[in-house]
Amino acid sequence: MSPDPHIGAPTASYEADPEAVSRVLLLYSGGLDTSVMLKWIQDRYDAEVVCLTVDLGQPGEDWEVIRAKALRLGARECHVADAREEFAREYVARAIRANALYGGGYPLFTALGRPLIAKLAVEQARASGCDTIAHGCTGKGNDQVRIEATIATLAPELGVIAPVRTWQMGREEEIAYAREHGIPVKGGSEAVPYSIDDNLWGRSSEGRWIEDLAHAPEDDVFELVTRPEEAPSQAQVVTLSFERGLPVAIDGTPMGLVELLQRAGELGARHGVGIVDHIEDRIVGLKVRDIYEAPAAGIILPAHQDLERLVCTIHQNQFKPELERQWAYLVYAGLWWEPLRADLDAYMEHVNECVTGEIGVKLYKGSARVVTRASPNAVYDASLASFAASGGLFSQSAAPGFIELWSLQSRLAWRLRNRPR
Ligand code: ARG
Repeated sequence: MSPDPHIGAPTASYEADPEAVSRVLLLYSGGLDTSVMLKWIQDRYDAEVVCLTVDLGQPGEDWEVIRAKALRLGARECHVADAREEFAREYVARAIRANALYGGGYPLFTALGRPLIAKLAVEQARASGCDTIAHGCTGKGNDQVRIEATIATLAPELGVIAPVRTWQMGREEEIAYAREHGIPVKGGSEAVPYSIDDNLWGRSSEGRWIEDLAHAPEDDVFELVTRPEEAPSQAQVVTLSFERGLPVAIDGTPMGLVELLQRAGELGARHGVGIVDHIEDRIVGLKVRDIYEAPAAGIILPAHQDLERLVCTIHQNQFKPELERQWAYLVYAGLWWEPLRADLDAYMEHVNECVTGEIGVKLYKGSARVVTRASPNAVYDASLASFAASGGLFSQSAAPGFIELWSLQSRLAWRLRNRPR
């Protein structure tokens, strides 16, 4: 049989053989792509579809509405997994300990969410007797890498299909298909929307004018964070308490991590914190621009980093950023299950054993600046560091001897390079 050109022949070992697709677990968001997909898979593959929607704390979703929509479009089952707790504990917590920022600015919220979503898809596919997992990622992004690498790692017995990569429909055709099949199209078909992804740790926007590098951000892209120009003109200082590298209280009120991330997100959003206009190197070779709103990360990461700097030695402080960069790169690149990631986490955890204390952060019109620090583990002695006389503990008379030996090699090298010829 000649392959359906809208399905295509598999190139990778984990891609489903179209003939073998009979019950599909679809990662369903309720949006246009995955709603069209829900019908399209039933049509093209003559397969049953089971839907899974994962709650990672994306604001403003009505899970019941999404579930009802899936069932109305023919899903045999629709499951909504509340994964906020697991996401916070197992993914965001590690990112905090690793001060994780890809490319110097992206706090990785999407990249952290994908391996968890794909892991839950594997679990649900097995529980619901599915042979295949379908997702709505395009062939140009990082998300396909993260999801498929996870499935191929955790469940080699399952096949994967990615209809958006093969179905050769643009937005217009998708809308036409939706109309034809009685799929409601939210907000009409005129305005092309931004491509959004969000969760507890942040929100990204892509597409439209964002692709024009000379175009400064338009106001309507910011849905989470108050524009700094409109943020309160009264600064607010918030105190974050950390225990072993993780935030546990805000302004003295203890809370679980999910709630704390939400609360920090609200505070940051109010003050315009966490906007990042980012040029990014995707793993598939493309260079793109993203607009990020990550108000919780915009407060918590600088506070954590500052506390870590206070309780660690100069050698730890010099070394850790190199591992952090590698950690962020692996996670960005979809290799969450790579053993090196866990090796690096072991290091991050060990260092963070002593990252306990309190950090005051001043929020004001888009900035989050650390203004106070306190820790029982600070490698800091005010009397030693003081410009005032420090008694006998720090011997200033030892300083010249230190300088002589410390600079010895550099001086010798300088002399060699500058000798008269
Ligand atoms: N550029 C970010 C990343 O690769 C965000 C991607 C957002 N994904 C999406 N499907 N809109 O992680």
